[in-house]
Amino acid sequence: MSDAALSSALDLGSVQLRNRVALAPMAGLTDVPFRTMAWRFGAGHMVSEMVASKLELWNTQKSQLRRIAVAGGAPMAVQMAGNDPGVMAETARRLSGEGAALIDINFGCPAKKVCRRAAGSALLADLERITAIVEAVVSAVAVPVTVKTRTGLDIDDEYGVDAAVAAEQAGATMVVIHGRSRACRFVGPVRFKPVANATQRLKIPLLVNGDITDKQTATVAVTQTAADGVMIGRGAIGQPWLFQVLTGGEMPSVRERLCVMGEHLQHMHQFYGLQQGVRIARKHIQAYLQTLGVAQLIPQFMSLDTAFEQLTWLNALTECRIKSLQQQALATPQMAANSAYR
Ligand SMILES: Cc1cc2nc3c(=O)[nH]c(=O)nc-3n(C[C@H](O)[C@H](O)[C@H](O)COP(=O)(O)O)c2cc1C
Repeated sequence: MSDAALSSALDLGSVQLRNRVALAPMAGLTDVPFRTMAWRFGAGHMVSEMVASKLELWNTQKSQLRRIAVAGGAPMAVQMAGNDPGVMAETARRLSGEGAALIDINFGCPAKKVCRRAAGSALLADLERITAIVEAVVSAVAVPVTVKTRTGLDIDDEYGVDAAVAAEQAGATMVVIHGRSRACRFVGPVRFKPVANATQRLKIPLLVNGDITDKQTATVAVTQTAADGVMIGRGAIGQPWLFQVLTGGEMPSVRERLCVMGEHLQHMHQFYGLQQGVRIARKHIQAYLQTLGVAQLIPQFMSLDTAFEQLTWLNALTECRIKSLQQQALATPQMAANSAYR
């Protein structure tokens, strides 16, 4: 699939995705600050971190923070997990009442905490329950309902493909498949064959997910599966500009990327407050330092204890990097001409 194809819109009824490069839901990572950055760089679709469908957890701080919308017009897509069709329908109703423009159901999570409650990927072999859940949620809300799943329970079954088909028949509008089984969790190669089988059997759009980190891996995933688009998780951490690059835009200059890291840091401090913000920031800034090629500085950043120290450190790094880039550019005229060193 070319840049142009990935950058074309995808119609899901009452919601139109502005392109086909989506940010995957990742609990503890794809919060409002991260989704704000991803949206700014052109992500076509973003799903909130998973919220439990248990209504008694509705008012916990964690659940409330996960249901906050990103400013700037991004359609609010909320993911939920659970196993009781009635409770899930009620949760979906509440979410849609709060402004969710799309509801995503998680049938892929391998986490023990989720599977112990027979939710997430634990449901994959239970097509009747999957059908009942999707039907109940679809009838409860007027917004599109999507599902996210894996290839199956084990490497050699395709329960996830059957689940995707069952979800389509029950009224789902789009499916995302992570090309690994529940048993594989996040390890081993992504398998495209089952995803391709799902694309063939489905009429609704399918996004392929798993180990997509750049143009090449996106092209391979789409070519091998005939998927309608891609969903990216870990590959976007520390480089939200990936969405811009995959939809035909330019790679931002080093100066711009440094500024993006600083901007993201401030969003985290503001959103979580200074104490929690400092902890959350460590996960993200270490990823930025890696993608910016200065991983050796990670221990220094991790040792900083306050928001002020983090901000001051990052400002100093940015100034120092920009100065050194300018010096290099002066020393080598061809570098000055290279937009990456602006
Ligand atoms: C830390 C972490 C948290 C995740 N949380 C969720 C989640 O809440 N819901 C979900 O459907 N998938 C979740 N996933 C799975 C991702 O959405 C995605 O399917 C998986 O990471 C494979 O894609 P990637 O190789 O692009 O990261 C999570 C993954 C990670 C690494």
